[in-house]
Amino acid sequence: PADWYRQMRSEAPVHYDEERDCYDVFRFDDVQRVLADYSVFSSQRAGEELTSQSIINMDPPKHMKYRQLVAQAFTPKAIDALAPRIEEIARELLEEAADRPDFDLIRDFSYPLPVIVIAEMLGVPNEDREKFKHWSDVVVKGVDIEAGETIEENLKARQTANQELAMYFADIIQRRAINPSNDMISTLLSSEVDGEKLTIPELLGFAFLLLVAGNETTTNLIGNTMLSLLETPANWERLVREPELLNAAIEEGLRFRSPAQSMNRYTKEEVELGGVKIPAGKEVIAWIGSANLDDAKFDRADQFVIDRNPNPHIAFGMGPHFCLGAPLARLEGRIAIQALIDRMPTLRLAEGADLKTVTSPIIHGLKSLPVVR
Ligand code: HEM
Repeated sequence: PADWYRQMRSEAPVHYDEERDCYDVFRFDDVQRVLADYSVFSSQRAGEELTSQSIINMDPPKHMKYRQLVAQAFTPKAIDALAPRIEEIARELLEEAADRPDFDLIRDFSYPLPVIVIAEMLGVPNEDREKFKHWSDVVVKGVDIEAGETIEENLKARQTANQELAMYFADIIQRRAINPSNDMISTLLSSEVDGEKLTIPELLGFAFLLLVAGNETTTNLIGNTMLSLLETPANWERLVREPELLNAAIEEGLRFRSPAQSMNRYTKEEVELGGVKIPAGKEVIAWIGSANLDDAKFDRADQFVIDRNPNPHIAFGMGPHFCLGAPLARLEGRIAIQALIDRMPTLRLAEGADLKTVTSPIIHGLKSLPVVR
């Protein structure tokens, strides 16, 4: 999409899409405003049933209280405490992958890692891991046109998985309510702001949101960054020699191939943006993926610069909705790529690898990333 973004930034930075009756926004400064200025650009979306009442669809002031409630499960201390376990999971996955003649970095590593991490955070026991993986897979899956799936089939599969997963979560929540443990659900059950607590449906919605917001994005943070490193082998070789560049490389991965390419809002009143009048009640698409490639903001914007500094990208959004899971995503990214540096320093792209991207206007990532070591 980089070419399309470039063209739109210069020719129609705020563009009315007649077909979808919405406005696309492409320049860094405008995207930033759409994401952060909630007085005009509302996050209240109809959304899907289970996440419609959730934090990502709320405006301040309601948003603030809810955010304070769930943030208690995402403190730096709570996230840092996960590091040893994430390291262990990464090591186990790589040990299994090392035996495969057809190591696929997505399928065998960057896809399972965040799913296992979130399953453990939610208190899903080991024996339910596969079941859980299947559900979280189905609830976020788009229509697989290539596999001949129809929209109706996809909807039906998702509804079934939604119901089964909701029942499963409800059961976990109930058990934790009676018998608290040291997992996230227990923390969320006891967290309180101004004497108010999350209701059970809110908690259920939040658990769903974590699957939708946190899994595929983190998979693609790892996959996209590794693609950028491996497609120019000098980058990977440099990182292996200078692993202190890892944080910068991950930030650049987030900027250069942003896992979440767009976020939407709805105008609460008429507003002028980039010289275009947007009427009240319109959907506005903030193209994060384009903002992060804007050469008005970044030098050599169209290149992956492994040691870029500073790097004020907005891959995790801006303002009150700034990604709650950013510290976790960064931690997982760091641990995953460090594990690859340690165990597979001679990694390279498989020859003739077919690098198909996920077909979605929101998600940017690879379907598979075949590598050899
Ligand atoms: C919000 C991106 C990982 C949980 C957001 C937003 C973005 C984003 C752009 C802002 C949405 C908006 O403005 O409407 C990403 C990226 C990730 C990532 C690129 C990985 C590289 C995670 C993880 C979790 C998570 C691992 C949790 C386990 C959330 C939640 C929100 C959010 C709960 C809503 C926050 C709010 O509305 O106040 N994320 N995310 N994300 N993200 Fe992430």
